[in-house]
Amino acid sequence: MEPCSCAISEMEPQGNDASILSIWNNALFQKTRQYLIDGMKAPGKIPTDDPSIFDCCASCPVAEPQRFQSSEDYYAILKNMLRRFKRRPGQMIRKLLNLNRLVNAGAKGVSAVDAKPVIANIDATNLCNIRCLECSVGSDEHPHPRGFMPFLVYEKILGEIGHGLYYAELFRYGEPLLNPDILKMIRLAEKKYGIMTAISSNFAMPLTDEFLRGVVESGLSELVVAADDIDQDLYEKYRVSGNVHTVIDNVERLVKIRKEMNSHHPSIRWQTLIFSFNEDRKEIIEKFVMDLGVDKFSYRPAYLSPKNYDLRPKETELRGHHSDKKSQIQKAELDCQDIELGTECKLTVDVIQNAFREEMPASSETGGIRVGIKLADKNKSEVADFGRIFFDKALQPDETVRLTKGLRFDEVEELDRVAYLKIDLVFENRFWFEQNLEIQSNPYYLAVKFKELAEVEVSAGNPSN
Ligand SMILES: C[S@@+](CC[C@H](N)C(=O)[O-])C[C@H]1O[C@@H](n2cnc3c(N)ncnc32)[C@H](O)[C@@H]1O
Ligand code: SF4
Repeated sequence: MEPCSCAISEMEPQGNDASILSIWNNALFQKTRQYLIDGMKAPGKIPTDDPSIFDCCASCPVAEPQRFQSSEDYYAILKNMLRRFKRRPGQMIRKLLNLNRLVNAGAKGVSAVDAKPVIANIDATNLCNIRCLECSVGSDEHPHPRGFMPFLVYEKILGEIGHGLYYAELFRYGEPLLNPDILKMIRLAEKKYGIMTAISSNFAMPLTDEFLRGVVESGLSELVVAADDIDQDLYEKYRVSGNVHTVIDNVERLVKIRKEMNSHHPSIRWQTLIFSFNEDRKEIIEKFVMDLGVDKFSYRPAYLSPKNYDLRPKETELRGHHSDKKSQIQKAELDCQDIELGTECKLTVDVIQNAFREEMPASSETGGIRVGIKLADKNKSEVADFGRIFFDKALQPDETVRLTKGLRFDEVEELDRVAYLKIDLVFENRFWFEQNLEIQSNPYYLAVKFKELAEVEVSAGNPSN
């Protein structure tokens, strides 16, 4: 296994009583950093072309010294700090000095860093009030003990790293507004340490005006309201046991209160995940929520595992597929020609693992591959099933594998209807939600030739390429 300090690795770095700074420079983190440094080919370029390093490393806090070597990331953060400089000069000077130290450490390529992290993700809780179908918290698959982050622990964390932090997300796995100390937590970060804070919330619990005033007063920089529709019947298809009327009512009152308090923050973004039930409703939802007074509407594909594939949008781009996507089946071949009933052939399928690099923001490793083989007619309608090839080993990004299967053409009576072998490929993957996800390649159609049959116009290959 590669060195990795990621929380989903088997070597978990967390320790409730350990100091954050000791974790930040512990042996595991240093090893991870060194690994990234050794693989870097250009400043700031996390070596994602190294098959054993994943895209998610680029956003891992361990990689910050390397990441901010990239002038784009560095200037974006610098610009924001300078914008806040006027109102908070003392706090910003400390943060700028820390950023500078961090960038220098990255440039020197040292694995032990004398600067503090600049961006952090501090999870206020891993409990939730609703049960989203794919969320590890909502579906009770979350592996860590449940609870609220105690305020004392939070204070200790900020005491150690707060002066260097520029941005903190106070959520990850659960519903942050359930933590009874959440407003105190935001206030401490924003007011004492000048950290920009962000929260993503389902906003689906009744919130009093007093609480909403507290949200504005706390100084929270950004609030993401995660709700996928404005119609209750559709909303609850994914956000099980949530009530969208409560969400809408909370948003309406927050907008009003923010105005009454003459405040620009928090900026409110309504975030909708796209499923089969709402893929045609983006404009309706956007209009409705913008009329409510939110500042921004955004949408993105939802990650879905096979048990919820019926929720996948029909539009392939919304499934995370892209028109420029490279096929994962590089080549498929049959070692026989002039097929007739009873002919035995060997099918060879060359597969490359390029799915997760292209379609998903982060991944650990594939859990295996399944290749489904069917016979199809010239209209590509399936006429018979040849079963599957299973490959259980994980494939690293860009690794290839050759799979074979013996096929015997004795199960199809009307072979003259057959024009293609249709080859479907599914990668299984362990994903950031700590669940198994799958990604399905576009089918690959291999033309097959039969003895003494009327000629059919066919072509081999993946038509989507
Ligand atoms: C795990 S939630 C925690 C914060 C909060 N409870 C919420 O839902 O906003 C973090 C983010 O994951 C998003 N999320 C939930 N299910 C998802 C899925 N299947 N695919 C992609 N994002 C998802 C939520 O919309 C939210 O923005
Ligand atoms: S609201 Fe957030 S934490 Fe709760 S189940 Fe849904 S995604 Fe998970």
